[in-house]
Amino acid sequence: MWETIAGVVVFVVFAITVMMTAFGLVYRRRCLLTTTTADLKKKTVIITGASAGIGKEAAKDFARRGARVIMACRNLQKASKVASEIEAGTGSKSLVVRELDTSSLASVRKFAAKILAEEHRLDVLVLNAGIGGTDQQMLTSDNLELTMATNHFGHFLLTNLLLGLLKESRPSRVVVVASVMHSQLKTLDVENLNFTKEGSYWPMQGYSQSKACNILCSGYLAAMLKESGVVVNSMCPGLVSTEIFKKSDTFISRYIYRFMAPWVGKTAEQGAQTIIHLAVSQEAATITGKFFENCLISDSATNLVLDEGLAKKVWEASEACVHLQPEEQHY
Ligand SMILES: NC(=O)c1ccc[n+]([C@@H]2O[C@H](COP(=O)([O-])OP(=O)(O)OC[C@H]3O[C@@H](n4cnc5c(N)ncnc54)[C@H](OP(=O)(O)O)[C@@H]3O)[C@@H](O)[C@H]2O)c1
Ligand SMILES: *[C@@H]1O[C@H](CO)[C@@H](O)[C@H](O)[C@H]1NC(C)=O
Repeated sequence: MWETIAGVVVFVVFAITVMMTAFGLVYRRRCLLTTTTADLKKKTVIITGASAGIGKEAAKDFARRGARVIMACRNLQKASKVASEIEAGTGSKSLVVRELDTSSLASVRKFAAKILAEEHRLDVLVLNAGIGGTDQQMLTSDNLELTMATNHFGHFLLTNLLLGLLKESRPSRVVVVASVMHSQLKTLDVENLNFTKEGSYWPMQGYSQSKACNILCSGYLAAMLKESGVVVNSMCPGLVSTEIFKKSDTFISRYIYRFMAPWVGKTAEQGAQTIIHLAVSQEAATITGKFFENCLISDSATNLVLDEGLAKKVWEASEACVHLQPEEQHY
């Protein structure tokens, strides 16, 4: 009897190992790489969260293509080390590290003010910084839920503040790093974006909702900026082996994703391909308001995040949450 059970367990573990390994091999092989050879000479790119993972690889590619790359990061020491590493690898001397904590509205306002004072143009804005969520609901210094603040509210405010510069620099692009994980969200309560209602917060809910808001707001912004020379698209990098799973404080991350990602996930360089495609390629220059995966327009965005009426409501509720001032509106 015990021998049978042991035999079954060994077989199941073996079968799972084979299946996962095969899945990983196929998944990585199927990852499409951008074929664009366009350069970014005389162009300025801002990318948030460029100190690790997907953002770091995208920054490296932009530097190689000749861009002035502004790495907007919360940990200056870590980011400076990465910048030196990229400079050594690409020969670029146009990397700039600037302090930005997307979870703090004050930090976002300070960062944007410095950019507006120092930069003459902004050709590409990549909203990439992100955390994977927390089991316990955490609050920022602005009293906002941490995952929503980091992934959505901070980026929402940043985009508003830099919109004037983006328009002056047209043709320009905004690339929003979202996730197919938004599909976990079945309903979105616009009156409760910050999970203020008692018992409304669930682990992973913060993450899925933040990514849903990323897509909703990029759609709304794209529609608002039609004919203005600024294109806005969102995307999912796929399952990518990065630091995010080690850093995020959720059960599923601690015990499942962090072991699965290195095994079956894409490399960070592969994960960065769709960002690069949207930021650089000629094909993507005139596409706006779409959701991308694997360098292609994807149909996996749910009806919820494609709802234009909901997008308008989320945009307006977000304006209230970040206390957007009339002089901070540039549309
Ligand atoms: N990896 C995946 O499988 C996957 C799948 C779908 C979507 N994504 C999305 O891809 C994006 C990049 O994630 P990744 O996988 O590359 O993770 P990562 O390796 O952890 O990198 C995340 C980057 O964001 C930065 N960051 C986090 N919180 C920040 C804050 N408050 N202010 C400023 N920067 C902050 C991190 O800074 P530090 O270096 O200081 O920590 C790091 O540079 C995220 O938006 C994530 O949601 C990832
Ligand atoms: C966000 O929600 C938390 C409770 O979940 C609440 O304490 C906080 O005041 C709310 N913040 C804002 C700005 O409404």
